[in-house]
Amino acid sequence: MATVRLDQKRCALVRAVPDSYPRALAKFFGSGPTSVPRAQEQHQAYRQALIANGVEVTVLPADHDHPDCIFVEDQAVVIDDHVLLPVPGHPSRRGEQPPVADFLVRQLHGGRLCRMWGEAKMDGGDIVRLGDLFFVGRSERTNDAGIAELKLLLDHLNYELRVVDVPKHALHLTSISSTPTDTDLLIPEGYLRPEDFGDLPEGCRVHVMPEEEVYGCNTIGFPNGKVLVAEGYPTVLATIEALGLEPVVLDMSEIRAADGSLTCCSIFYSPPPWLLESE
Ligand code: GLY
Repeated sequence: MATVRLDQKRCALVRAVPDSYPRALAKFFGSGPTSVPRAQEQHQAYRQALIANGVEVTVLPADHDHPDCIFVEDQAVVIDDHVLLPVPGHPSRRGEQPPVADFLVRQLHGGRLCRMWGEAKMDGGDIVRLGDLFFVGRSERTNDAGIAELKLLLDHLNYELRVVDVPKHALHLTSISSTPTDTDLLIPEGYLRPEDFGDLPEGCRVHVMPEEEVYGCNTIGFPNGKVLVAEGYPTVLATIEALGLEPVVLDMSEIRAADGSLTCCSIFYSPPPWLLESE
């Protein structure tokens, strides 16, 4: 669920698939995308699934000079009405940020903008929110200086931050976990352990999936009880159903080929309250 609660998923920013997508970084789940048209079809189905679940979707044009540009989650961290612009962890991805930042600053009107600088590095894909508790992955893309800057913001907002070490065989914390609701956390055996997350608030539960379903642990839940899940992960599917939720299954094969997951392809946000009140 990345950095917003279920009730804050009013709007989402996504970015179209560039012609250069076959050159996207791929080191963990995939060995690189092979078909731009198929990736575009899957991305279109993803966008439709967001819309079908009540999300207002804006599509930024593709940036053909940046093969990874569809993975907008890494470029900005929206927490309530604040936007944190990280220094993306991979140098090839830093030029993706300006249009994403401009868009969010316009959408969140009077919201607060913070920008990382210096040695700090972070990909938004390393942050997971469980209700009002935040986890950040210390990973190949997110360093301690970046974590310290995120902590400053979360301290200001009165939210707790816990650090989880992402194993070397994974890209981001969100590549291997997600919160399909504000109280449920999915993690895979062989990558993460429940104790990595510490004692959770009352009512929160960790669901441990088989190691081979690691990719399926990335899901997107909505306030209507539906949950987007990637095709091909039966234990994840059964767990979502056992929680009384309704899975919506998407073919993510060309997104996975570039190490991307469901949450990587969107930034959720909610317009400021005064705009909602006038609806
Ligand atoms: N291909 C997604 C990333 O490596 O950032």
